[in-house]
Amino acid sequence: MEQVRPSDRRSLAIVLAAGEGTRMKSRRPKVLHEVAGRSMLGHVLAAAAALDEIAVVIGAGKDDVAAEARRQRPDAEIFVQEKQLGTAHAVLAARESFATGIGDIVVLFADTPLVRAETIAALRGGLAEGAAVAVLAFEAADPHGYGRILCDADGHPVAIREEKDASEAERAGRLCNAGLMAIAGARAAELLDGIDAENAQKEYYLTDVVARAARAGLGTRLVLAAEEEVLGVNDRTQLARAESVAQERLRRAAMLGGATLIAPQTVFLSYDSRIGRDVTIEPGVVIGRGVEIADGATIHAYSHLEGASVGERASVGPYGRLRPGARLGAEAKVGNFVEIKGADIGEGAKVNHLTYIGDASIGAHSNIGAGVITCNYDGFFKYRTIIGENAFVGSNSALVAPVAIGDGAYIGSGSVVTKDVAADALAVARGRQVEKEGWAASFRRIQKAKKSGA
Ligand code: UD1
Ligand code: CA
Repeated sequence: MEQVRPSDRRSLAIVLAAGEGTRMKSRRPKVLHEVAGRSMLGHVLAAAAALDEIAVVIGAGKDDVAAEARRQRPDAEIFVQEKQLGTAHAVLAARESFATGIGDIVVLFADTPLVRAETIAALRGGLAEGAAVAVLAFEAADPHGYGRILCDADGHPVAIREEKDASEAERAGRLCNAGLMAIAGARAAELLDGIDAENAQKEYYLTDVVARAARAGLGTRLVLAAEEEVLGVNDRTQLARAESVAQERLRRAAMLGGATLIAPQTVFLSYDSRIGRDVTIEPGVVIGRGVEIADGATIHAYSHLEGASVGERASVGPYGRLRPGARLGAEAKVGNFVEIKGADIGEGAKVNHLTYIGDASIGAHSNIGAGVITCNYDGFFKYRTIIGENAFVGSNSALVAPVAIGDGAYIGSGSVVTKDVAADALAVARGRQVEKEGWAASFRRIQKAKKSGA
């Protein structure tokens, strides 16, 4: 698509989010279902971030939808559409938002989450050329159910016919309405106010603005998008399809940014994943919200990361789990079947095998042996474990927090550490080894004799 300079007229996005979403069969409002770790509404608001003002039209009682809108755009104005009488009716529910001073109105659907900022800019570009209405169109592989766009000889839209109102000839067209459109603010009231509900569905159709503009001799424009960008989500199969398109985009961006994804189809990212250069991500990795991976790091196969940061040239997994608040310093190593939560792992420190580190900090170059557990919870409160630099915690030790281990200290394997350990000390907190010479041989002799009934 051609790059269009955003017009400098004051702009408003009206995001329609009042639909019932019954086909989702969910307690959650449809537009709060997530794609790549963010609600569909959140995606649409992000795509509209460049616009000056935001109005969100919600159904009655949908406080959670309003809250999600405000989380992303605290300045969003919320309008309630009491009854869902059609898309034009929904836009008019927000009429206060464009009563004065708005140059460009862009109408977006909250259940069309993959629309990009560039496409919104292109619609506004149509208005900047002098059109009163610019509609977003796509060539549908299967046009069934969509409104068909009818154009004049110059290729400008003159009407949009909903499937249920279209003649057979009109229905044969494959140029479909994505639903999103831009309307010149100065013309909006006159174009919207006269719309009636004289159609098959007895609804106030936003799409009627096209014929009204054309009839009034006002310019109209068509902007083409790829079908996948305007995918509308009505049920969970379409939600999965949207997820797969979003994942494709995220993987591609990560790879073009300099990361190696060995089997990209098996790696799952989030909308906010930050992945550096020369990062290698092996197969089967899931990266949840809020993850940052610095240059040169390696995420080995089947690791799961969320709310975590991984330092330069650090490595995680295979089968590593980083939970929120895990922060790995440069060249730190977190190995297989290790879970880290709310903990700083210092530069070059190693936590390589079968370990849980929670609510802790581990100093640079310390080594945490296999099976070490920070006991951070007493059933009521959480406590921290502080480990200094260059410390060595022997395998299978339990560190009962709150507890601190000084720089350079050694903890003997199998210890249950309940008291602080001074720097450079050795702490051993387990039963002392006793040896009884010949005990096993004599034990065997006695037992064998018993068994043979002697
Ligand atoms: C609409 C378009 C159709 C287009 C299709 C693309 C109209 C009349 N038709 O049809 O040309 O091909 O989208 O997917 O616009 N909404 C409200 N309040 C309402 C009605 C709808 O907020 O009273 C919201 C819905 O939540 C949804 C969006 O508007 O986000 C579209 O409404 P929907 O009923 O799904 O329109 P379609 O029949 O799919
Ligand atoms: Ca729809």
